[in-house]
Amino acid sequence: MSQRVKIKQILLSDKANYEVTVKGWVRTFRNNQFIALNDGSTNSNLQVVVDFENTDPLLLKRITTGAAIGVTGEVIPSLGKGQKVEIKAKHMEIYGDSDPEAYPLQPKKHSLEFLREIAHLRFRTNTFGAVFRVRHALAFAVHKFFNDKGFVYLHTPIITASDAEGAGEMFRVTTLDMKKPPLTPEGEIDYKEDFFGRSTNLTVSGQLEGELGAMAFGEIYTFGPTFRAENSNTARHLAEFWMIEPEMAFYDLKDNMDLAEEFIQYVIRYVLENNREDLEFLAQRLAEEEKQKPQAERSELGLIEKLEFVLNNQFERISYTEAIEILKNSKPNKNKKFQYPVEDWGTDLQSEHERYLVEKHFKKPVILTDYPAAIKSFYMKQNEDGKTVRAMDILFPGIGEIVGGSQREENYDKLVGRMKELHIPVEELYWYLDTRRFGTCPHAGFGLGFERLVLFVTGMTNIRDVIPFPRTPKNAEF
Ligand code: 4AD
Ligand code: MG
Repeated sequence: MSQRVKIKQILLSDKANYEVTVKGWVRTFRNNQFIALNDGSTNSNLQVVVDFENTDPLLLKRITTGAAIGVTGEVIPSLGKGQKVEIKAKHMEIYGDSDPEAYPLQPKKHSLEFLREIAHLRFRTNTFGAVFRVRHALAFAVHKFFNDKGFVYLHTPIITASDAEGAGEMFRVTTLDMKKPPLTPEGEIDYKEDFFGRSTNLTVSGQLEGELGAMAFGEIYTFGPTFRAENSNTARHLAEFWMIEPEMAFYDLKDNMDLAEEFIQYVIRYVLENNREDLEFLAQRLAEEEKQKPQAERSELGLIEKLEFVLNNQFERISYTEAIEILKNSKPNKNKKFQYPVEDWGTDLQSEHERYLVEKHFKKPVILTDYPAAIKSFYMKQNEDGKTVRAMDILFPGIGEIVGGSQREENYDKLVGRMKELHIPVEELYWYLDTRRFGTCPHAGFGLGFERLVLFVTGMTNIRDVIPFPRTPKNAEF
C-alpha cells in the first residue's frame, strides 16, 4: 500500500499520475461509481472513481454514506467539473460499515437545531467541519500572537476557592455525600471535611492568579475553560466557555485597549489568510440564510467583508457617560422602542443598548470605558472622580460584549477599601493583596470570550454551534 495522504494535500496540488492511499468517510456514493470521500482535512470531498464492473458487488454494497473506508489508487486529472483531480480506485478496504437506514446524517440539508441533538456526529457535516477548523485556527493564532510578543502562557487553576468576579455564579466542587453531609455544630454543611478541607468551585476567571504571574513575568496570558452558573438561556451564554485572559504589568487602560484591538485584528487576519476555503463556505451559508430574512434585517456586509472591515477600521472609543448621552437621545429611546428605557446615569447597559451603539450608531466595533464603579468588579482601578472605574468593554456587531477588561487597582488601601464595601473576604484573598504589598505597579488586562469570537468569525448565530459540546442550563449531553 502506498502512503496515506490527506485529501487537502491532494486537492491543493495539480499533480497527477501518482499513486496514493486515502482514508476517510463516505459522504455520498452515486451510480455505483462515484464516491465523495471526506477525511476532515478540508471541506472539499475527493472524488473516487470505482470500476464497478470489476469490483466485488458485496464490497460495493458496503460503500454507504458514513462508512469509513480506505482507497488506494492513482490520482488522475478529472474530466468532471468541480475538481481538478480525482482518484481511480485500485484497491478498497472498508474499516467501518454505516447502516444507511440508521445513520442520522443523510446527504441533504439538516437544520442546526437537529444537528445540535446529534452533536456527536455533526463534525461530519460541511458547516461544522468548517466551524471547528476555523475554531482550531483561531486558537492556534491566539497562542502565536502572544508567544511572538513574549507573553508567558500561564495555566491558572480550574478548581479554586475564590470567586474572581465576585458575582457568585459558581459551580461547587465537592466529594461530600450529598445525602448525609457532615455538619458543623451550627447545622451548616462542614466543608472542612470536604476533599480540599474547604469549600471549592470551578473557576469563573483565571484573572486573579494571572495578575500574580504578571507581577513576575511582566506579561502573561491564560487560555482555558471557565464556568458560570448563570441561568441565562441565550444564544450568547454558555455555562462552560473558553476565555483568553492576558495580564500585563506596566500597562494602563490605553495600552490595554491597544493590545486588545491589535490582538483581535491579528487573529482575524490569521484565519482570513489561512482558512479561506472554510470562510468562503461559511460566507455562502450565511448569505443563503440572510436571503430568508426581510430586506430591512439583512446585514449590509457579507461575512468576509465584515471581517475585512474590522481589520481596516479602528474601533470607536468612548466613555460610558458619552454612551449614555447617545442612548438617551437616540430614536428608539425617544420612541420607547427599548425594552429598558435609558434614563439615568449609572444603570447597566442591556444588550439592546450595546447593539444600538455598535450596529446603528457607530456601525463598527466600540470600546466603552470608565463605567460606574457600582456595576463593575472590585479589582478595577478607581478614577479620580470617585464614581467611575478604568474599565473597558469591547462591543461587536451581532455579538454584543466580546471583551471585558480594566486597569487594576494597584493601591493596597484603595483595593482593600473597595473589597470591604463589597463584602469580599479580605483575609482569604491575602495572596492577591500581597501583590499590592510587595512591588505593586500599574497593570491591566482583559478577558476575551473565545466562543463569542468564533461566533463573529464564522457568522454563526448561536453559541451552541461554535463549541463542540455546549453546556447550558438543563443540558450536559455528550
Ligand atoms: O466580562 P467578564 O466577566 O470578565 C472577566 O471575567 C474578567 N476577569 C476578564 C479579565 O479582565 N481578565 O468576561 C469576559 C468575557 C466577556 O466579555 C464575554 O466575551 C465572555 O467572557 N463571557 C462569556 N462567554 C460565553 N458565555 C458566558 N456565560 C460568558 N460570560 C462571559
Ligand atoms: Mg463583562
